[in-house]
Amino acid sequence: MNAKNLQLSTYISEEQLQKKISEIGSILTDKFMNKKVTVVCILKGSFIFYSDLIRKINTDITCEFFGVSSYSGMTSTGEVKITLDLTSPISGQHIVLVEDIVDTGVTMDYLKKTIEARNPASLTTVALLEKPEALKVPCKLDHVGFQITNEFVVGYGLDYQGYYRNLPYIAQVQNFQ
Ligand code: IMP
Repeated sequence: MNAKNLQLSTYISEEQLQKKISEIGSILTDKFMNKKVTVVCILKGSFIFYSDLIRKINTDITCEFFGVSSYSGMTSTGEVKITLDLTSPISGQHIVLVEDIVDTGVTMDYLKKTIEARNPASLTTVALLEKPEALKVPCKLDHVGFQITNEFVVGYGLDYQGYYRNLPYIAQVQNFQ
């Protein structure tokens, strides 16, 4: 399958995304008002969701970036690798992890264990999308944008072989064989 020739259909529109992001932003604003909070972008997939979400959090935050990789094409390798670590210690800070999608749960499980080991004051998990039918590792999330069926989606930061991250909406692929 040529990554650049997929037939796409809109699955979650820009309007639906922005409405949900405003709702989550407002909840996080209330939760972290007057607290020292660091919001962590999980790279690469959550960079667009993260950019929109932090602009809906109306209290002081600091930003960090954490890179992990576990996917090859359309399947999870089950092995998570850190590609970029946080730049400063997080001990005693309230941490919000912002992930694009929880599929098998392996990545989020790894992230939670890795961050908890660094002794934050609290850890809050946010994922734009969750595929409950695909879960292989128990993974409780604090805030989820949309629960979706077990199909591959692209756009709004999510890729297939590196492409489609720049689509402004979430799309389903029509012509996977
Ligand atoms: P998990 O470890 O299986 O939960 O996979 C998490 C990671 O896999 C996400 O951060 C994405 O990068 C990637 N991923 C999972 N499902 C999809 C999808 O439908 N489209 C694009 N990337 C996905």
